[in-house]
Order: sequence, then C-alpha cells, then structure tokens
Amino acid sequence: MIAAYQAQCQARVDAALERLLQAPRGELQRLYQAMRYSVVNGGKRVRPLLVYAACETLGGDAERADGAACAVELIHAYSLVHDDLPAMDDDDLRRGQPTTHRAFDEASAILAGDGLQSLAFEVLTDAGRNPHDAELRLAMVAELARAAGPQGMVGGQAIDLGSVGRELDQAALEIMHRHKTGALIEASVRLGALASGAAEPSTLKALEVYAQAIGLAFQVQDDILDVESDTATLGKTQGKDEANHKPTYPALLGLEQAKAYALELRDQALHALRPFDHRAEPLRDLARYIVERRH
Ligand code: IPE
Ligand code: IPE
Ligand code: MG
Ligand code: MG
Ligand code: MG
Repeated sequence: MIAAYQAQCQARVDAALERLLQAPRGELQRLYQAMRYSVVNGGKRVRPLLVYAACETLGGDAERADGAACAVELIHAYSLVHDDLPAMDDDDLRRGQPTTHRAFDEASAILAGDGLQSLAFEVLTDAGRNPHDAELRLAMVAELARAAGPQGMVGGQAIDLGSVGRELDQAALEIMHRHKTGALIEASVRLGALASGAAEPSTLKALEVYAQAIGLAFQVQDDILDVESDTATLGKTQGKDEANHKPTYPALLGLEQAKAYALELRDQALHALRPFDHRAEPLRDLARYIVERRH
C-alpha cells in the first residue's frame, strides 16, 4: 500500500519539481544543473508524501498541495547539500551519487543550496503554483520559515555541530533531533493540513502530536540505520556518525533501546490519529514506514 502511494506521490512531486528547475537563461545553466542534481536524484520524498497525506486526511485535493509538497522538498534538498559540505558532515555520497560539492565544487554547492531555499519560498508565495488566498499563502510561508530557520532545522544543525564529541543526555538529544529533523516533518504535516482548506484547531492539534512523534522517530531511525545498514543500501556512507563523533540515540541508549524507542514513537503517532477516519490511512502507513524503512 505505502509503495503504491509513495510511487504516485513521488511522480506527482517530481514532475512539479522538474518544472521549477528549468534554467531560465544560458548563464544560469550551471547553477540550475547543480540545483537539479541535488533534487532530482531519487530521494524518498517523505516530506512531500506527508504533505499530500495530511491534505487527503482532511479531504483536500492533491492539486492544492503541490506547492507545499515542492517547497518542503526544496528546503530538505538544500539542507542535505549543506549538511554534506566539508565544513559540516563532510560526506562524499548522497542518494547513491557523489554529493553536490563533489560532483560540482563547494561554491556551486553552497549556491545551489541557497537557490533551493529561496525557490521554496517563491513557490509558496506564487498563487499560480500554490493556489490559495493570500492569507493562507502567508500562513504557509510563516510555517515553513519557522521550521527551516534558527528555531527549526538550522537551529538543530547548529546544535548538532556544537555537540560533536560531547555526550548529550536524552533530553538534549531530543531537542537537537526535534529541531534538525522534526521541525520540517511537522511543518510538512501542518502545510498539508492547511492546503486542504479544512484545518480546524482541534484537528491541527491531533496532527501536531502525530507529526512530533514521527519527526523524532525519523531521526532516531536515521541514526539506527547509520549504525546497522550498509553504504550501498543507504546511498550514503554508513558509520559516519560514529566517525564524526556525533551524539546519537544508538550511542546514548544502545541499538536495541533505540529501536524500542522508535517503535514507541510510532505507536504514539498512531494513537494520535485515532479520531480520523480511513482517509488517514496514508498517514498511518507513513508512521509505520518511517521506523521500518531500511534506507
Ligand atoms: C535524511 O533524510 C536526512 C535526515 C533529515 C535524517 P531522508 O532520509 O529523508 O533523505 P532522502 O531525501 O530520502 O535522501
Ligand atoms: C541531517 O542529519 C539533518 C538535516 C537537517 C540535513 P544527518 O546529518 O544525520 O543526515 P544524513 O545522515 O547526513 O542524511
Ligand atoms: Mg548532519
Ligand atoms: Mg549528515
Ligand atoms: Mg544521519
């Protein structure tokens, strides 16, 4: 079920992303090439899937969620390009290909990331690509800005880099994960709900509990896979967290307890979805997928 849903949403968001990443003029070929290289390269598209699934849960049409789906994936792709830079995690492999700074050069990777970030917000403000009234579009921009910025992903990355070689306790690790990965995952769910045009405060609250649980579970599973998967399956170099002395859940709790924690978070997420009907099935599947995935 999730595989078919995933394929359908992937095709949908990939087509929209392709349209956004056409170089408007010859001089910008190389920049756009680096941006395309960073986006159109086989990501799982979990965040766009969450946008579509949240929109569908509240009865919205997928067409109304395309802009938000593109925007969250553009921010995510930018975060990966910068995360892989030598000054950050210094990774050579991403999605089974050389990282952007390896395939191009560092300056191109920095600019490609910057360009992807700006494009995400341009898409949300554009009524053609994000067909909602101005007030809703503004709310969506604010939502994504908060999640991507210093109180969200960028803040989490700063905590991550500031924690290298230190032992964090579970509370501090949770704060880091909720910022660097959880914030954008939560925003994906909220943007999908907003795009449905039917988001009520009570439904948003329930979806927020769901999103917080899967947001944390996603990074816990990423940490687990870094320990126990292999480079070919992951499409990124296995064992980098330990090599880079990163604080992670498996390092703190041990592998088995980290796995148990991921499952507990999945159950919390499923519990939060109890008020919703069958239309929340894709969100339920995604909660299971996030902790069962092998890459
Ligand atoms: C990897 O994200 C980075 C984290 C935030 C843990 P994904 O596992 O979603 O990466 P892609 O997009 O599928 O490559
Ligand atoms: C990255 O976390 C989170 C981001 C905001 C990009 P990681 O550094 O663990 O992601 P991977 O393992 O390189 O994909
Ligand atoms: Mg990192
Ligand atoms: Mg990394
Ligand atoms: Mg990782």
